[in-house]
Amino acid sequence: MTMPAQHSADELDRLPLSPAGRRFLERRVFGHFIDGAMVPSASGETLTVLEPSSGRPFATVAAGDAEDVNRAVDAAQRAFDDGRWRNLDAQEKERRLRRLSALLDQNRPTLRDLDMADGGVIRNFTDFFIQFGIDAVDYYAGWPTKLHGSTPAAPPDCVVMEVREPIGVVASITPWNGPSASASGIAAALACGNSVIMKPAEQTPLTALLVAELCLEAGIPPGVVNVVQGVGEKAGAALVEHPGVSAINFTGSVETGRRIQAAAAPRLKRLCMELGGKSPQIVFNDANLDEAATVAAGAVWGHSGQVCTAGTRVLVERGIHDEFVAELVSRSRALKIGTAFSPDTQMGPLISSEQLDRVSAYVAIGKAEGAHVALGGARVGDGGYFHQPTIFTGVDNRMRIAREEIFGPVMAVIPFDTEEEAIAIANDSEFGLSAGVWTRDLSRGHRMTQALRAGTVWVNTYQRVNAAVPYGGFKQSGYGRNLGAVSLDSYTQLKSVWMKIR
Ligand code: NAI
Ligand code: MG
Repeated sequence: MTMPAQHSADELDRLPLSPAGRRFLERRVFGHFIDGAMVPSASGETLTVLEPSSGRPFATVAAGDAEDVNRAVDAAQRAFDDGRWRNLDAQEKERRLRRLSALLDQNRPTLRDLDMADGGVIRNFTDFFIQFGIDAVDYYAGWPTKLHGSTPAAPPDCVVMEVREPIGVVASITPWNGPSASASGIAAALACGNSVIMKPAEQTPLTALLVAELCLEAGIPPGVVNVVQGVGEKAGAALVEHPGVSAINFTGSVETGRRIQAAAAPRLKRLCMELGGKSPQIVFNDANLDEAATVAAGAVWGHSGQVCTAGTRVLVERGIHDEFVAELVSRSRALKIGTAFSPDTQMGPLISSEQLDRVSAYVAIGKAEGAHVALGGARVGDGGYFHQPTIFTGVDNRMRIAREEIFGPVMAVIPFDTEEEAIAIANDSEFGLSAGVWTRDLSRGHRMTQALRAGTVWVNTYQRVNAAVPYGGFKQSGYGRNLGAVSLDSYTQLKSVWMKIR
């Protein structure tokens, strides 16, 4: 791909890149990835990529529209139709997926650098995302030889086979908060023999390109894995509407999820929606308070609160309320806020000035609603998008800071008196992604897991995920599941074959 370089070397010099990450970023101008090659936009349009720790530009990426989507879908469809991947021997598919996992492992330094550079992701979080992506590829690499249909009971004059087949072209539309996990979003679709088109968030466009290049290097044929870049309203919308795309896996905001569902309706596309949350963490008097406070705080400050399962509503039983709040404050006050690439940073920047403004607006709303600021409440510095960890106490579940997804480091502490009240408050939310419970009472733990309306419930832990365990939401947090064996159903369809034998 030939395009003029628009950035000077010193922008990269500011970043402590690994040699491999530096080599990757030195291309400076990035495109779509279609049919095995990086290509510019048909229109020649580009977007600037900013580094969230400073707000400064360091790369340029193609800005796609319907024409680029047409090209990517054509390539993906051709690859599907001629069977270059779909009809490959199952064991060979597994071998190549395992090779992809090994390549992701070898490329950890570059994945880290990209997360840090365009996502503002700090070290412990990028390591978590990278491992998560590798684990998902490893897990699904084991599936091609285990995918099979069945032979249902049939009339005696016939043999009937129930055959499991891939769907075709699958779009994976992802947000900016975990780019290095993007391999996890395509692993199941690939294991089932589909072609995929990734549409990464415009803020974090680079990692998907590396993943696509590694897929090719692993032996997944050209055209099977493609990337279309660009803003959601253009490239994303064109992908959703394209008749050649059969299924869409979307992770992001509820609002965009609704728009995608409406746009996909005319063609009855299959959807899997992993949307937002306002997850409760419920702490009872008998909990291990030390552990609960550490985990509960980490579940809101992790990645500066930009995680869909962030446990932003902390429900605390009245008897331990003041003590527990003091524990939360003492653990959170000393958090070291800094750039994503400084090794001792404990909380990095938000993704963008828009996201920082959104967090500031919600802090003002919380104050106006009468909640008490027990910690933080302000942005930090004037370059980069930093905000203090912020704890509101005296929160009523009817307040907007308890109902709306903020996606930043803002915790709402809500007191309760009884188990029934805790359940009522926890379930009084339009979201239902996840919930946490802290108690030493085994029966109560079970009662709570039965009562809570959420796609994942953690007891005496929080935010554990595993490639073998389904992940997704209830209510407005979405439907369909990523990960686990159940995800294979999203990427396959059943064909019933009847053959008359008598
Ligand atoms: P978004 O949900 O609009 O974007 C996520 C992905 O969808 C991006 O790749 C984007 O380009 C794409 N997209 C946007 N509009 C589209 C459309 N009409 N058709 C197809 N694709 C489209 O999230 P955004 O705008 O980055 O952030 C808005 C708010 O959503 C944030 O402030 C945050 O609070 C929340 N959010 C929640 C996430 C979650 O996982 N719960 C993830 C990202 C954002
Ligand atoms: Mg949006």
